[in-house]
Amino acid sequence: MNQARRPLIAGNWKMNHGAASGVQLASDVARTTAAFGSVDVVVAPPFSALWKVADALQGSRVELSAQNMHPKASGAFTGEVAPGMLLEIGCKWVILGHSERRAMFGESDAVVAEKVKAAMDAGIRPIVCVGETLDERERGDTLNVVKRQLNAFLSIIADKPGFAAIAYEPVWAIGTGKVATTAEAQEVHAMIRASLAAIGPAMAEKTRILYGGSLSPKNADGLLREPDIDGGLIGGASLKAEDFSKVAETAQKIAG
Ligand code: 13P
Repeated sequence: MNQARRPLIAGNWKMNHGAASGVQLASDVARTTAAFGSVDVVVAPPFSALWKVADALQGSRVELSAQNMHPKASGAFTGEVAPGMLLEIGCKWVILGHSERRAMFGESDAVVAEKVKAAMDAGIRPIVCVGETLDERERGDTLNVVKRQLNAFLSIIADKPGFAAIAYEPVWAIGTGKVATTAEAQEVHAMIRASLAAIGPAMAEKTRILYGGSLSPKNADGLLREPDIDGGLIGGASLKAEDFSKVAETAQKIAG
């Protein structure tokens, strides 16, 4: 981490927790992270729980995120949710380009870019995910793949430096318990930082780059101490308030 940026700890609940248990989890997160004033905390419940969780988070420092979004404002898109609909219920953030959406729902770099543009235009802060598969890493293609994914949307987030965040999530580390080493993560984060710097100093200085992939209270300290890792996007460990808030506490300690 670097003093220039506030750490951001975000929980991606994926398809876990309906409205009732989601409200409970969000309330626990609000309570257990309340003292960590140096850290920005975000939770991303499934669509069906957003409305009630938004209510439960009223008056807390925890901000709400969606996990996906359609790029159009309205229309005949059965099963989809528009940017304005998310804003209306208090969503400040949206996760875009998650590897699960890229792999299972066919989201190409172009689709991700279109969604990033729609979020920026609507005033929703995107957390845009990038990351290589195990095959790509073993072929030595990691930096090329992540650069290609980045190049699809970097110019779109350049309008408002620091508004969007980027999450580096190596696909082989997601849900596997196989976390990237601090050196493996920092190498990619440094490349992302350099790509941001090529756009301008404000982009490099203000954009938070999160690490995601089996991040937990056990490994958070090492990763969050790396100079270009500004926080985490947490899956499994975000489903228990205790584990999630421990990662936020680690970020708070390092930020001081
Ligand atoms: P895990 O923390 O479960 O590996 O998931 C990471 C992730 O995909 C967050 O978006």
